[in-house]
Amino acid sequence: MALLELDNLSIAIAQNNTLVPVVHDCSFALEAHDTLGIVGESGCGKSLTALSIMGLLEGSQVRITAGSIHFDGVNLLELDTRQRRAIMGDRMAMIFQEPMTSLNPVYRIGEQITETLQQHRRLSRKNARHRALELLDLVQIPEPHKRINSFPHQLSGGQRQRVMIAIAMACDPALLIADEPTTALDVTVQKEVLDLMLDLQRRTGTAIILISHDLGVIARNCNEVAVMYRGKIIEKAPTDKLFSNMTHPYTRGLLASIPSVDQDRDWLEAIPGRVPLIDEKITGCAFHPRCAFTEKPCTQTAPRLIDIRKHHAVRCHFAGEF
Ligand SMILES: Nc1ncnc2c1ncn2[C@@H]1O[C@H](COP(=O)(O)OP(=O)(O)O)[C@@H](O)[C@H]1O
Ligand SMILES: [Mg+2]
Repeated sequence: MALLELDNLSIAIAQNNTLVPVVHDCSFALEAHDTLGIVGESGCGKSLTALSIMGLLEGSQVRITAGSIHFDGVNLLELDTRQRRAIMGDRMAMIFQEPMTSLNPVYRIGEQITETLQQHRRLSRKNARHRALELLDLVQIPEPHKRINSFPHQLSGGQRQRVMIAIAMACDPALLIADEPTTALDVTVQKEVLDLMLDLQRRTGTAIILISHDLGVIARNCNEVAVMYRGKIIEKAPTDKLFSNMTHPYTRGLLASIPSVDQDRDWLEAIPGRVPLIDEKITGCAFHPRCAFTEKPCTQTAPRLIDIRKHHAVRCHFAGEF
């Protein structure tokens, strides 16, 4: 069994005494060293999928309604809160878009790193501080001895995200989920932070799920891509296969929104309209109101995710014909 295996995971949100489905039949698997990119516009269900793997939905109105999440061969959905907490931060860790919301503004960054180490690794204060300095050095924070005493607001956005990576990597997690980790940063810093993450991955073998609305970021950094639209995976393939045989009209639209890529391909057009809200009813394919290739079946029945070739799955009635 793979390190992480999602099997037909479905998620719903409780609204006015009804459950509104938001993620449907989501399946994928990761091994050590894998980097899976999940891409799609805002509102497609990427973060909810990530949070459900981390076990961070508890207490909210979000419910997992079907499927399983196996990690190290154990179905996480069958564990109790205490068992989940023990895994989180130790065997799996997550980095969010805005480090200021995850870092505590009133504690020095050194304290925040050592806290993780003391909690999960039961290191003494002295050893935890020593390891914190090592980690700051590893994520290329200049002058770690000084910076370890800084408060989050004294660091730049890029440095804060490096500190988040240090905290996430503190216990050598087997799985790291990075949800739009560089969206708030400018382009050069973005690249540095992503390069750092992948460099650490090469050393540790950590499996990474990288979430982004930017297909360019995913293409450069991932070996497998899952494209999500309105809570469903609509195309999934190894990165090279996806880019050499991009099939779903939505994926092509995402590609068209990356500046400077494939400008000579005239079938690329940005996607009109927006992602429908979760309570908007759409029959047939959820993408059909925005799709340039819509035909009658698209408005009537929802397409299934089918393999159009080995390791390349597409959810479109006309997948074989493009
Ligand atoms: N706690 C919540 N309560 C109500 N709706 C939510 C909640 N979290 C997410 N949603 C809705 O679920 C859908 C998917 O959200 P999300 O997973 O955050 O999308 P993404 O990360 O792809 O932008 C969106 O329509 C969003 O508005
Ligand atoms: Mg999100």
